[in-house]
Amino acid sequence: MATTKPVTVLDLRRMKAERQKITMLTAYDAMFARLVDEGGVDVILVGDSLGMVVQGHKNTLPVTIEHMAYHGAAVARSVERAHVVVDMPFLSYHVSIEEAVRNAGMLLKNGAHSVKLEGGAERADTIRALVDAQIPVMAHIGLTPQSFHAQGGFKVQGRGNEAAERLMRDALAVQEAGAYSLVLEGIPDVLATEISAALEIPTIGIGAGSGCDGQVLVIYDLLGMDKSFKPKFVKRYAQLQDAITGAVGEYVEEVRSGAFPDDAHSFHDKKRAAAAAPAAVEAGAPRLRAVYGPSES
Ligand code: KIV
Repeated sequence: MATTKPVTVLDLRRMKAERQKITMLTAYDAMFARLVDEGGVDVILVGDSLGMVVQGHKNTLPVTIEHMAYHGAAVARSVERAHVVVDMPFLSYHVSIEEAVRNAGMLLKNGAHSVKLEGGAERADTIRALVDAQIPVMAHIGLTPQSFHAQGGFKVQGRGNEAAERLMRDALAVQEAGAYSLVLEGIPDVLATEISAALEIPTIGIGAGSGCDGQVLVIYDLLGMDKSFKPKFVKRYAQLQDAITGAVGEYVEEVRSGAFPDDAHSFHDKKRAAAAAPAAVEAGAPRLRAVYGPSES
């Protein structure tokens, strides 16, 4: 059962030590953040996946630090227990370490508890500088969506010995630089298990099998809000696409037929309706006649 004691980076490290699985889901707004928090997840990721699922882009590259600060603030305001980690978007930490610290700091000023960035050994100095500035960092290696063009699309990474060894080196490098945890995305399960066993910090997997210390999914995927999107690693725990389009269709029908709003969903002023507009009552609608009675004439 969820408690309201906020989850910290120390709790997440302790959970790994105690072999307790870490649960993480994305949220991008206040409503979903509250629901996901109430559902009991340990970590809410305000992912730059919002560029695709909220903004409608084909990849995450157009997302800006201002977008992340805005959505991060909405989520952070709505959460009581979960740790809130906010993604640093493409180009917000690549140009210089100084810019990276300023941008990550801005996310914390807007309510984030920690930040996530993509990359391995090549980001070690940046991670070190952020940690020096008291900004906890979750790293992210494997299929890194901000490398969409460099990786030739969304492709499984780390297959074969050479690629696997490179990812193991990246994992050790970000741990050594001070990252408090590591997302492993789109890599073979055996490699994710090996990396998780080699690290002291917790790993959170997505498309990386069951050997990770925790799991993350995009909330809309888990809820089945887009039937056309079904990658292998996604499990749908609900089928909301049909539920939502069905509800919208029913609303459209009822508005068109006049069945909505009915009396139960309307405000009434009997005196005024009877005195000021008997004709309107008469002419207006059977519904008004039913409420106020027929006019005298
Ligand atoms: O942006 C995101 O949602 C992510 C997760 C898929 C790990 O980075």
